[in-house]
Amino acid sequence: MSSSDWQEWVVETYSHLVEPLEEWLFEQGALAVSLEDNADEPLLEPGPGETPLWQNVKVTALFTGSINLSPIKQALPSSLLAGNSRNDISTLEDRDWERVWMEDFMPIQMGPRLWICPSWTPPPEEALVPVLLDPGLAFGTGTHATTAMCLNALDGLIRGNERIIDFGCGSGILAIAALKLGAGGALGVDNDPQAVFASRDNAQRNGIEPDDFAVVMPDDEVIVHWDGSADLMVANILAGPLMELADQLISLTAPGGAILLTGVLEAQAPQLIERYRNVNLEVNQQRDGWVLLAGKKPS
Ligand SMILES: C[S@@+](CC[C@H](N)C(=O)[O-])C[C@H]1O[C@@H](n2cnc3c(N)ncnc32)[C@H](O)[C@@H]1O
Repeated sequence: MSSSDWQEWVVETYSHLVEPLEEWLFEQGALAVSLEDNADEPLLEPGPGETPLWQNVKVTALFTGSINLSPIKQALPSSLLAGNSRNDISTLEDRDWERVWMEDFMPIQMGPRLWICPSWTPPPEEALVPVLLDPGLAFGTGTHATTAMCLNALDGLIRGNERIIDFGCGSGILAIAALKLGAGGALGVDNDPQAVFASRDNAQRNGIEPDDFAVVMPDDEVIVHWDGSADLMVANILAGPLMELADQLISLTAPGGAILLTGVLEAQAPQLIERYRNVNLEVNQQRDGWVLLAGKKPS
């Protein structure tokens, strides 16, 4: 192996061990860590307090060829592995690194201005507004249809200085994108503490000041101060919680403000439209069976 080669270390583990394993791999010098479903399970929305991942996870870490991984592999705590699971290191030639990693995590254009870019490759020149985001524990990298539809809509809606609430913020991708597009301030809300942590972390990575983006749990009193003031409310949750949250989401929105809702399957749209009849929701986009509903609170 030459020092210009790359090494790929694949470890299989359980979802609750992913975070410490990922942290450990970065401490050993990993340049990037990606996560994949290891048992062909769909990624469904987890409940509060649950780890937002599949039960079995394939963790792939990338190292430069100059690191001797043999002693590091010996030192990997067995408590971070799933039983007698896979724990393999292989060498990638430069060409393979390009193929394996860049194909999976290419910068993606989400709208005329907005791009989502992995942090380990420079954003393309044509990316007017790049958001740096890597796969992580909280939902939202832009590859899911619902996130992509919201990002595309935000690119069209944000003109400058809007106050935006991202309810169910996950990785914080929607609020961060809105702020980078010119929004004046954002509130992220999520009932999963891991998502709150991830949103703050991703905001920092994108150079966003904590004063411009507060991220809180649903019972935080900060939310009350936003009542009736969001120029734009975006919520990518699921139909069930969106039905329950209707009064709160409408109340938080400013008169004349826009509401974007997704996480809703086509067949569920009529019941959401009825529940949010005060804000005249309409189907704005459709992708892979999901819809994005957009409405406006009367002035
Ligand atoms: C599908 S993810 C969306 C993440 C990100 N906003 C995006 O668009 O990719 C939904 C998020 O909503 C959160 N969530 C689910 N129910 C919620 C509730 N009742 N209140 C606040 N957050 C909730 C979940 O923890 C999860 O992070």
